[in-house]
Amino acid sequence: MMKYAVITGTSKGLGASIAKQLMEASYHVIGLARSENHDLATAELPGSYTHYQVNLADLSATQSTFQDIIADLQQKKLTELLLVQNAALVQPIEQAGKQEAKQLMDHVHVNLLAPMIITNLWLDAWRESGIPLIMANVTSGAAQRSVYGWNAYCSTKAGLDRFTETVALEQDELKTGHKIFLFDPSIMDTDMQGEIRSSDPSQFKDVEKFKDYKTYQNLRNTDTVANVLVEKLVAPERIKNGEYYSVKDIFR
Ligand SMILES: NC(=O)c1ccc[n+]([C@@H]2O[C@H](COP(=O)([O-])OP(=O)(O)OC[C@H]3O[C@@H](n4cnc5c(N)ncnc54)[C@H](OP(=O)(O)O)[C@@H]3O)[C@@H](O)[C@H]2O)c1
Repeated sequence: MMKYAVITGTSKGLGASIAKQLMEASYHVIGLARSENHDLATAELPGSYTHYQVNLADLSATQSTFQDIIADLQQKKLTELLLVQNAALVQPIEQAGKQEAKQLMDHVHVNLLAPMIITNLWLDAWRESGIPLIMANVTSGAAQRSVYGWNAYCSTKAGLDRFTETVALEQDELKTGHKIFLFDPSIMDTDMQGEIRSSDPSQFKDVEKFKDYKTYQNLRNTDTVANVLVEKLVAPERIKNGEYYSVKDIFR
């Protein structure tokens, strides 16, 4: 029984919690981020952890890293294979007209283009394998509503939603048995929220509301949120291809 999970953005936040919980459930986890995760690398859990250091804004590095990961996995006798695309950034938080082009490029690369390229490589690599693939993409409520100062983030998350739903439609039509779905984690106590709180009201109109989320402890911890996703990932028969699954379906 060789169960593998490839997860982007495992150095901290939600991705680190998902990785740990899948390792507890005996999955061998391959994690990607720019920084390493010492806790996961040294954890004594039923599943192992292997880290690939990569900047997902660098699309050629992203492609070659995934080609290496796929070549490695193709040597193994896999019984299950999960892909969780969780890495993302919220910056630039700024009204359109005051943004730097390089920041916008990095943003779209990490949040949208890397997931598209990775999904493409992934579906191609396992075409003849007979392994039913499970692919989760982490989205945000911002995909469905416009937030002043988050024009980049709202756009890339909306793009990720539509991409995921379109790939799901294709897999249905092709009868591959692969399942790709969206997971909305709602608001969590992570560094991303810290970055949001540190923005200026001229950049982000709702900054006070987000400071209150922290003050009044409305932010969920990432272990709680990861558990909602992991319970689904370990019982893939419960996943519906193309579904939108939110932590709010469990916690109201
Ligand atoms: N926090 C919230 O309230 C909230 C709400 C809704 C949705 N989400 C979504 O939930 C997911 C996880 O967010 P989080 O709050 O856990 O964020 P986080 O604490 O900021 O962690 C982001 C992760 O993504 C990785 N990452 C960022 N840029 C990268 C790059 N250029 N190359 C490689 N890896 C990169 C980071 O690793 P390195 O920095 O080490 O590279 C880190 O492991 C994201 O998709 C986010 O949009 C979060």
